[in-house]
Amino acid sequence: MMTRYFNIVFCAVIFLAAGSVANGLPLEDRFEQLTNNFNEMKQMLAIKDSRLEALELKVQQHEEKVTRLELALLNEQRINSKLSSAELIEIRRKSIARSAMPRTCREAHLADPTLTSGMHWIDPDGQAVGDDPIYVYCDMNSGSTSVVHDTEMPLDVGHCAEPGCYSKVINYNATIRQMAALAQLSNECHQSIQYDCYYAPFEFDNIAYAWWNDINGNAKYFWSGGNTNVHTCQCGIDNNCVDATLECNCDATAPVQLVDSGVITDKNVLPITRLNFGRTQLTSSTGVHTLGRFQCSGQVAVTGIPESCEDLWNIGHSLNGLYSVMGSKMVESVYCDFTKLPSDAGFQQWIGFEDIISSPTYFYVQRGSVFFNQTNIPIPFDVEKLNVGGAMNLQTGKFTAPRTGTYFFSLSGLMYLPATSSSRLIVDICLTKSGSRIANGHSSSTIPSSAYETFSLQSTLQLQVGEQIWAEIFYVSAGAQLHGNNYTHFTGWLLQEDISLSLNVI
Ligand SMILES: *[C@@H]1O[C@H](CO)[C@@H](O)[C@H](O)[C@H]1NC(C)=O
Ligand SMILES: *[C@@H]1O[C@H](CO)[C@@H](O)[C@H](O)[C@H]1NC(C)=O
Ligand SMILES: *[C@@H]1O[C@H](CO)[C@@H](O)[C@H](O)[C@H]1NC(C)=O
Repeated sequence: MMTRYFNIVFCAVIFLAAGSVANGLPLEDRFEQLTNNFNEMKQMLAIKDSRLEALELKVQQHEEKVTRLELALLNEQRINSKLSSAELIEIRRKSIARSAMPRTCREAHLADPTLTSGMHWIDPDGQAVGDDPIYVYCDMNSGSTSVVHDTEMPLDVGHCAEPGCYSKVINYNATIRQMAALAQLSNECHQSIQYDCYYAPFEFDNIAYAWWNDINGNAKYFWSGGNTNVHTCQCGIDNNCVDATLECNCDATAPVQLVDSGVITDKNVLPITRLNFGRTQLTSSTGVHTLGRFQCSGQVAVTGIPESCEDLWNIGHSLNGLYSVMGSKMVESVYCDFTKLPSDAGFQQWIGFEDIISSPTYFYVQRGSVFFNQTNIPIPFDVEKLNVGGAMNLQTGKFTAPRTGTYFFSLSGLMYLPATSSSRLIVDICLTKSGSRIANGHSSSTIPSSAYETFSLQSTLQLQVGEQIWAEIFYVSAGAQLHGNNYTHFTGWLLQEDISLSLNVI
C-alpha cells in the first residue's frame, strides 16, 4: 500500500519536472538527473519496504505473544477463583494430552527439563492405546517414577491367629497394565516394605503366616531382594538376623520389639498387590506394616537397529502395523500389536523375510570369437551382456563377492575335440572358490571323429564378502579347446544377502 502510494507521487513529480526547463539545464540532462533521482528513491523505498515487512512480522509475533499471555492470564484468573483441584488437574491433563504424553517421568523430564518434581501425568502403555494416563509422583532429579497407593502410612494388622487372617489389598493410583508397562520400560523398579513386629512372625514352625501377592496375584514370601522363591528378609541376606538360624528378625520368638525392613527389587513381580499377615492373636503381639510406593527409574536402552516389536515399543512406537526389524541374518517383517504389552501373547507376529540386497549383483558374460586351451588359470571373458554391481572382472575372469550371502552361478559351453586315431580326447573344466574346485564339468570325444561336446555346471554357494569365484580348465588333451564364438556362458547373481553382516561392511 505504502509503496504504491509513493510510486504514484513520484510519477507525478517526474511528470511535472520533465515538463519544465528550470535550472537552465538542457531538457535531456534534467531528465537524466530526474531519472537518477527516481532510481535512487526507488532503491530507498525498496529498503523501506523490506524494513516494513520485518516490522509487520514483529507485530504479528508480538500479537501471538499477547494472545498466549492473555490465555495464561485467563487460566491464572480461573485458577485463582473458582476451579477445584480436580478441574485444575483436568486442565493440566488436557494440556499435556495436547502435546505428546510422556511414558515415564524420565521422558517427561527429557521433553521439558524445566518441569519440577511433583505429581505429573504419564502414559506408560503408550499414548492413545491401552489404559488412560496415570497421575504419578516424578522425582525430576533422579528421573524416577513413583506410583502412589492407599497404604503408604504404617498400618497395624490387629489381632488374629490364622495364616493371612489379616489381608489388605493395595490400591494403586494406576491400573495393573500401566504398572506392568512402566516396569517393562524401566531399567529397574523397587518397592520398600517394613514390618515392625512383636511376637508376630512371618513364619513359625514351618508354617507361613505372612506373604504378599505380586502383580499376578501369586503369593511371595521374601521381604527383600530379588530372589522370588525363598522366604527371606534383608537380615537373612546380610546374615545378621537376631536369631542367626532364621531368615527374618520377626521370625525370632523373642519378647522384644523387632523390625524387618527391605526393598523388593524384582521388577517382574512388582508391585505388591496385597499384604497378608497372621499369628498376632496374643494381646501383646503387634504387627505394623509400612509399604513404599512402586518406584521405577531408568529406561531400557535400545541400541542399534530394532530387532523386535518389543524394541520398537521401548523406543516409543505405538501404532499397530507391519514393521521391519533386523533378524539374525536378514531383515524381517513383523506385525506389532501395540494395543498389547510385550509380555502379552500376540504382541508380535512374524510375517516373513524381507528380500533386501544392499549391493545389487548379477552378471552374464560370454567368450567371444577366440578359443581357450590353457589350464589352471581363470578363464577370461570378453563379451559383457550384464554386469550390475561390477563384481565380475571379465579380464581376470574372477567374480568377487561384494557381500556375504548366498549366490547362484551357472557355467555352460562347448568344447572342440579334434579327430584323433590314438586315444579319445578330454577336457575337464571346473568352478573354483578362491582356488579350490567346487564343481567339475567334463567333455570327451569318440575316436576317431572330431566332436563338439557341451558341458554345463550350476552351483548355489554361501560366500563370504571378498571370496572369489572363477572357471578354469584343469585338464585338456593336446589340440582340444574351449570353443569361442559366444558358445561359453557364465552367469551369476546374489540370491540372498546376509544383511546383518553387511552392516559392518557398508
Ligand atoms: C489419582 O489419580 C487421579 C486421576 O486418575 C487423580 O485425580 C488423583 O489426584 C490421584 N490421587 C493421588 C493421591 O495422587
Ligand atoms: C593351445 O593352443 C595353442 C595354439 O593353437 C597351441 O600352440 C598349444 O599347443 C595348445 N595347447 C594345448 C595344451 O593344446
Ligand atoms: C559375440 O557377441 C558379441 C556381442 O553381442 C558380438 O559382437 C559378436 O559378433 C558375437 N560373435 C559371434 C561369433 O557370434
